[in-house]
Amino acid sequence: MGNFRSLSWLLILSVILEGVTLEVQGLAINWGSRSSHPLPPNIAVRLLKDNGFDKVKLFEADPGPLKALGHSGIQVMVGIPNELLIPLSSSVQAAVNWVSQNVSTFISKYGVDIRYVAVGNEPFLKAYKDMYVKTTFPALQNIQAALIKAGLGQQVKATVPLNGDVYQTDSGLPSGGDFRSDIRTLMISIVKFLRNNGAPLTVNIYPFLSLDADPDFPFEYAFFDGKAKPVVDGSITYTNVLDANFDTLMAALEKNGFGSTPVIIGEVGWPSDGTPNANNQNARRFNQGLLNRINSGKFSPKHPSMPDIYLFAFIDEDMKSVDPGNFERHWGIFYYDGSIKYPLDVGNGKNLVAAKGVKYLSRHWCVMAPQASLSDPNLPGATSYACSYADCTSLGYGSSCGNLDAKSNASYAFNMYYQTMDQKQGSCSFNNLTVLTVIDPSQGSCRFEIMIDNKTHAKTPSRSTSSRGKHVTSLLVLLHVIALIFCCMF
Ligand SMILES: *[C@@H]1O[C@H](CO)[C@@H](O)[C@H](O)[C@H]1NC(C)=O
Ligand SMILES: *[C@@H]1O[C@H](CO)[C@@H](O)[C@H](O)[C@H]1NC(C)=O
Ligand SMILES: *[C@@H]1O[C@H](CO)[C@@H](O)[C@H](O)[C@H]1NC(C)=O
Ligand SMILES: *[C@@H]1O[C@H](CO)[C@@H](O)[C@H](O)[C@H]1NC(C)=O
Repeated sequence: MGNFRSLSWLLILSVILEGVTLEVQGLAINWGSRSSHPLPPNIAVRLLKDNGFDKVKLFEADPGPLKALGHSGIQVMVGIPNELLIPLSSSVQAAVNWVSQNVSTFISKYGVDIRYVAVGNEPFLKAYKDMYVKTTFPALQNIQAALIKAGLGQQVKATVPLNGDVYQTDSGLPSGGDFRSDIRTLMISIVKFLRNNGAPLTVNIYPFLSLDADPDFPFEYAFFDGKAKPVVDGSITYTNVLDANFDTLMAALEKNGFGSTPVIIGEVGWPSDGTPNANNQNARRFNQGLLNRINSGKFSPKHPSMPDIYLFAFIDEDMKSVDPGNFERHWGIFYYDGSIKYPLDVGNGKNLVAAKGVKYLSRHWCVMAPQASLSDPNLPGATSYACSYADCTSLGYGSSCGNLDAKSNASYAFNMYYQTMDQKQGSCSFNNLTVLTVIDPSQGSCRFEIMIDNKTHAKTPSRSTSSRGKHVTSLLVLLHVIALIFCCMF
């Protein structure tokens, strides 16, 4: 009897354990790799898994991240950069080669669970001045044909991540939504094609950019706390721009007879630095509101069914172009090294956890020498040289290091250079203007970084975690079997 009782408990326990693992809502995120010191892919994949992300979008077929994602249980959308749209649009064979090298191989050889190919990245953005308008659709068609040829037509769908400006509303209300008139016919062809292939439409929606671009944009309307002056559209009331924007797209689809098209939100997020509205507080407020919404399972007032939403982004990228603004290098929910920027509840009260096993360069910072003078004629040239190689976007007005005094400001530039150069001999010698210190010069919100030691990581790759997940599952199955055998014996 005693045995029976404890084994029943075992059965119950194993069912509960399984329940817990199943209950955690899967999350999706964008993983870009324009970093001088990228997080080692196996550490990054473990970081994704530790925080409940089971879908990831890559901007290109990066072999390191792709291999690390093999057998991880994470679904992958792999991107094709815009530069490849021209060759892929003009040659079916180029598309066949692309799919063979960048999809088939990773599926069959490395066990990567590729579900989507993202053809181009916001190719119809107005800033590109129609550069990709002619090539995007043919490239999509060729990639789709190549996927079918490779026997992957069911498993992998081709889509095009579009910028939110492919649709608009003349009335200012979501119900007035329609496609931008200059590309309306093209959009209809693309949506028709996606539907015929059972593929989703992908759009990127950026409340932050709406706010950043328009000084009259109502600040609260960017967030999810319901504090904004509502926008009333017939019987529907909107209190945040993400809902309104999404329903504008849905209205555009309905108006053109494609109301039931599945939609993916390919990017949405908030940067934490580089401009006054980009800080940890606003980023946390936006991303927490978004995660709460995702975990609630209910989306916009008119279209409550939850689309897949890929957060932007996973980790900061210090080599991204700053053409859109200094904030561009600070979209990560993690710093570049997988450390935590601000707390986030990713669901069920579970807090974001940091990357494990990251190895850093030694704790040495390069700073302006105490005896060096701010009026030294070499100083301006030295700092601007440092910042042309290293990321100084945190020094701008309203940014995390924007309040440093002139000496610390110069130190920040020197240190970023020294770290970016892997603390190489000679990279902290600017005409006697600098010295090394072991005292962390960070102050307030301003972090003086130490970079990842990618040489040590390259020599001692940490073990992948994929086998661990499998062991947990088999343990659960084993518990089940033992419990079932014993319970039925009594
Ligand atoms: C390590 O960092 C250096 C310096 O930024 C870079 O050139 C190199 O490509 C990096 N290596 C790896 C494996 O990421
Ligand atoms: C595979 O993708 C990479 C990264 O985008 C690209 O450089 C390469 O040319 C692709 N392979 C083929 C055969 O197109
Ligand atoms: C801080 O450093 C940046 C980059 O070197 C420079 O552009 C800016 O003028 C400096 N600000 C002050 C207050 O010294
Ligand atoms: C740096 O300092 C040393 C020692 O004070 C001096 O000999 C040297 O000329 C200085 N170099 C420059 C470039 O100022």
